[in-house]
Amino acid sequence: MSDLDTLKQTLLADVAAAGDEAAIEAVRVAALGKKGSVSELLKTLGTMTPEERQTRGAAINALKNELTEAIAARKAELRDAAIAARLVAETVDVSLPVRSSPAERGRIHPISQIVDEITAIFADMGFSIAEGPDIETDYYNFTALNFPEGHPAREMHDTFFFPPDANGERKVLRTHTSPVQVRTMEAQKPPIRIIIPGKTYRQDSDATHSPMFHQVEGLVVDKTANVANMRWVLEEFCKAFFEVDSVTMRFRPSFFPFTEPSFEVDIQCDRSSGPIVKFGEGTDWMEILGCGMVHPNVLRAGGLDPDEYQGFAWGMGLDRIAMLKYGMPDLRDFFNADVRWMNHYGFRPLDVPTLFGGLSA
Ligand code: DAH
Repeated sequence: MSDLDTLKQTLLADVAAAGDEAAIEAVRVAALGKKGSVSELLKTLGTMTPEERQTRGAAINALKNELTEAIAARKAELRDAAIAARLVAETVDVSLPVRSSPAERGRIHPISQIVDEITAIFADMGFSIAEGPDIETDYYNFTALNFPEGHPAREMHDTFFFPPDANGERKVLRTHTSPVQVRTMEAQKPPIRIIIPGKTYRQDSDATHSPMFHQVEGLVVDKTANVANMRWVLEEFCKAFFEVDSVTMRFRPSFFPFTEPSFEVDIQCDRSSGPIVKFGEGTDWMEILGCGMVHPNVLRAGGLDPDEYQGFAWGMGLDRIAMLKYGMPDLRDFFNADVRWMNHYGFRPLDVPTLFGGLSA
């Protein structure tokens, strides 16, 4: 066998053995590259006699051509194999069930939903949000709100008291969100338009009472705030919140130490069809909030001159309102952290309540 035949067999064997595109490229460089074995042979053509060139020269060229073809064919083969392997590896099984994202699976608690709804409504009317501590001083929870020392109204609140501290001061778990009224007046000058959502605490527990519950307070203080403004604000709120075109409200005279005059507000409704109450229709009345004109002593406690400023305020329990709006029969379930209850009564996290997009849609 001639040297060319031997070289050809070796090179063709290398081509056949190349397992991937990098390997076949290496074979090509080793044979046909600048210093490749076949290239070196081609360089000898110039030194040959014309006869030699006709026989050996033709054989070298034939070797070069055959090898070039073999390499191209193997390259194509390897490229096809690589694509086929990728297609197999990257197959998507479209019949598999889709795993939903946490943003879809999670649920917003009805209380958070209600707070978001109320915030959306009052933000639209130019209110901002104020907050205060759950552990409150006796002063802000009672005294600054015009509850006289030893007055029975303090007992009416079924207060959780902390043991007295080193100074003999007895902190409380706030019994309402009203203490944030005075905290806000101390911190900012009128005009004040705030709502105060938050947790509140009283010693009470049954199907409609929980020792921890939620309120939203509202406070408006400026030089001209009056009962008519208050009625308008509360009526607009109720229409938006209960998602009806009109509501009939009833303002009954009442008493709170921190407002004068004080009212309890009932809203007309239809309670004849089970746990979900219909608002804006019917012949029943349901009490939904307390309100009034801020008492001069409360303005004074907030550092404001009652001859210059006046205001109105209201407070509303959220838990019962949530039960009525969304038809949950037992308040205690709100705080049992039962995931089945949450899946049923909770709201989708991406359905953020807005006035234009719908509150509870
Ligand atoms: N703080 C009262 C309560 O918990 C509710 C309330 C009534 C708040 C009248 C007010 C108000 O701001 O003006 O029962």
